[in-house]
Formats: sequence, structure tokens, C-alpha cells
Amino acid sequence: MSNFDKVIKGGKVVTPQGVTKADVGIRGEKIAAIGESLDSTGAQVINATGHIVMPGVLDVHVHLELPFCGTVSSDDYNTGTRAGARGGVTTLIDFAIPYRREGGYDSLSEAADNWHKKAEGKALIDYTFHMCITNWDTHQKQIAGMVDRGFSTFKEFMIYESEGWQSDDRALYGTLEKMKDLGTMLLVHAESSRVLDELIARYHTAPLMKKYKAQLHAITRPNYIEAEAIQRAAKWCEVTGGSLYIVHMSTAEGTEIIKEAQSRNVPVLAETCAQYLVLDDSVFKRPDGHLFACCPQLKKKPDIERLWKGLADGEVSVVSTDTCSFTKKQKAMWKGDWTKIPMGMPGLETLLPSVYTFGVLKKRITLEQLVEKLCYNPARIMGLAPRKGQIQVGSDADIAIIHPTKKFKVDPKTMETNADWNPFEGMELAGFSRTTLSRGDVIVDDYKVVGKAGRGQWLPRKTAGLSR
Ligand code: URP
Ligand code: ZN
Ligand code: ZN
Repeated sequence: MSNFDKVIKGGKVVTPQGVTKADVGIRGEKIAAIGESLDSTGAQVINATGHIVMPGVLDVHVHLELPFCGTVSSDDYNTGTRAGARGGVTTLIDFAIPYRREGGYDSLSEAADNWHKKAEGKALIDYTFHMCITNWDTHQKQIAGMVDRGFSTFKEFMIYESEGWQSDDRALYGTLEKMKDLGTMLLVHAESSRVLDELIARYHTAPLMKKYKAQLHAITRPNYIEAEAIQRAAKWCEVTGGSLYIVHMSTAEGTEIIKEAQSRNVPVLAETCAQYLVLDDSVFKRPDGHLFACCPQLKKKPDIERLWKGLADGEVSVVSTDTCSFTKKQKAMWKGDWTKIPMGMPGLETLLPSVYTFGVLKKRITLEQLVEKLCYNPARIMGLAPRKGQIQVGSDADIAIIHPTKKFKVDPKTMETNADWNPFEGMELAGFSRTTLSRGDVIVDDYKVVGKAGRGQWLPRKTAGLSR
């Protein structure tokens, strides 16, 4: 009898050592062996002939059931984690946000409790949260306690004053000091709020809104809005020595700043998102252009190419999605005023297919680099390695099996996300997961979700930070 419960046979396995033809033996929730011709007598055999066997993807930037822009994002832990599973995602990290209430703010602990409630009984895949600091004076004293509770990443927004989420330089500086002391990491949404608000005010007139419609979202956010904020956050990172991670970086200028800072060993890392690698701001000219509004907004073709180069060369460490889905009905709240569009788009289901198709198949990155940016780096940087993000003995049996060339048309009618539109709609993408395993359970079989809601587990973490 075999030593394994399941054996994945005959696939091309992507391990930290490279790509090799091998079988993967699974016992319980863990990877127990990787080798040629593993004995599968009595075990369940998963045939991976002609397929790529890669670690399950970690999407480390997700917002599920998020109250935002006057509505609540439309994917919850049920639809969001099903969408992820179909796209080969086996771990996600959401953002627990303390809200402004009458008389003050939720504590960090209350925010964590609120997010735990959203996930309980619904999650199909494993998850954890970044803890958002929305009021420095209130939250600074609570950071160490959250580390004791198993949270190792914190987040600050340099915009969103009207949501009550904005942090200023004092908060960024003080948080980075704490990150250094605690061995944890600060994530930052970097956009320069004062100049952004000024540009929005200048363009917020009835004639200009009639003329430019959703294009005003891009017109009021020139690249320097992101670049200046990244530069400033990187400076606070440099002088404090606290680990910093720039989320959803969208510009060529931002990428250059990160590269230059890293060359001087400033402990700053950067993520981009699939939409910034595939789409450009010409979509805002479309009659349905407002659907594509997210912050920061989609940029131009040279930005796209610079981000891909940053992934290939190393200064961009991670690709995530910033999933924050809204339906067409929710997006219609804009009524011609771009400042009222619920900002965000669905992404979990198409992260792996879009980066595989536009990255690996277009030869901008290798298969090994894809796994580094979607699995290995996110796990290491977010304090989840070696449990997650790699196919190696002892790691969780979180695995995505994909066909190298078989393509599916992106069609919201056939997808798990609750959004009734998709930024990649109509595109033919390879890289959807034929089989997804989460801690040894098959949760996607023959491209269909078969796992049960509620089996996903919260993942405690101790540390996070620089790991290029
Ligand atoms: O448009 C976006 N990105 N929505 C989600 C909130 C954020 O800034 O990440
Ligand atoms: Zn953001
Ligand atoms: Zn986000």
C-alpha cells in the first residue's frame, strides 16, 4: 500500500528548485513526497499528464464584503473564495478596517472580530487579514496587541479622507518605527491626496463632466499623484528602517523609485495588480468606461511594459488583484459624476489566468517567475512561508493544476464572482485551474468548484517583511 492519500501523477511540477517532471504525494493536509513514479497503490490518483502542477496562488490584496463608496462590495467570503478557487487561489489576505463610528473609531481588535465574522462558515480557502490603521492616535497603542493575536501586516491609506481612512505622514512615520521594532510590515496605498483633491475640485464642473465623463478619473490622477506618494513613503521607510510594501503600484515612475530605493537597501517592496499589467486607460473612453474605475486608475502602455520589466528584473515582487467587486447596478451610482463611482473591480478568478496568458505565454516572464510572483514571494513576504506558496515536503498541499495552452473565454455568466461584468470580459485566457487542492482537499475538479463553504481556515502569522 502507498504511503499517500493522494498522488498527483505525471505533471510538470514547479518547485523552488525549478520545473521538473514528477509526482506529488499527499498525506492528510501536507505534501509528503515529490519524486518520480511514486507508489500510488490504494491512493487517489490525480492525473496531471500534460499539465503544470504549481503551488496554489496567494492573492494578498482582496476586499470582500467591504463597505465602501456608499455601498458594499459585491463578493463576500462565499462567492469571493469560490472565485479564487476556480482561479487556483488557495490563500487570500483581506483588509480588516476599523470604521469611524459616533464618538470614535473601532479598535483594531474590533475590526479583526468584524472580519472574522464575515469569513466564518463561508470561506472555501484559507485566509487572513492585514490590519488597517485608520486613526493613528487611537490605533498606535493597539498594534503590539494585534501582533500577539497573530497579525503581522498593517495597512495605511494616503487617500480616502471622506471614508475616514486617511493617514498622514506622522502616522506613516510612527507606524514604520513600530514595524521595525516588531519585525512586522506596513502596506501603503500611495496616492498624493492634497494635489489629487485639488485636481478633482478643478475638474468637477458640469460642462467638463459632460465632455469627459469617466475619462476624468484618469485626467485627475496623473502619474505624479502616485509617484510623489511612493517617494515620500519610501523616504519614511528609509529613515525609520521599518519594512514597507507599496500596494497596487501602477506607474513606471513608481517602479523606478522602488528600484532606486532597493539599490540602496531601503527595505521597501512593491506589488502590482493584474489589471495594471493588461488594461490601459483607453477603457475610460468606452460607454461603459466607468465600470473600470479603481484607485489608482489604469495607466498607459509604457507603464504596463515597465511593470512587466519590474517583475522580470525583480523590483516588483508580487502580483495581486485588489479585488473589490461591484455590480453594474452599483457602478451606476455614478450618474455621470466620476467622484461617485464605487471604486474597484473583480479579480480573484482571473489573477492566475491573466498573468499566465499575458506574462508567460507572451514571454514577458518565465513560468518560474510566475510562481515566484503569485505564490513564493507573497507567502514569504506576508509571513506564510514555508507553510504556503511552494511545492515542497512539509508544506500545505495547496496546489493548482493548469493546462499550458487550453483557453476559456472570460464570461461573467459562467463565473463564480458575484460581479455581472468583468474587466477581462471576452478575452481568451489560459491558466484557469483544472484542479485546485487546498490542504489536500480537491476543491476544484474539471474546472468546477466542488469544495464546501466554511472549510477555509484563518492563518495566524508572526512576522512579515523584506524578502526579495
Ligand atoms: O479601487 C480600489 N482599489 N478599491 C479598493 C480600495 C483600495 O484602495 O484598495
Ligand atoms: Zn488601495
Ligand atoms: Zn485595496
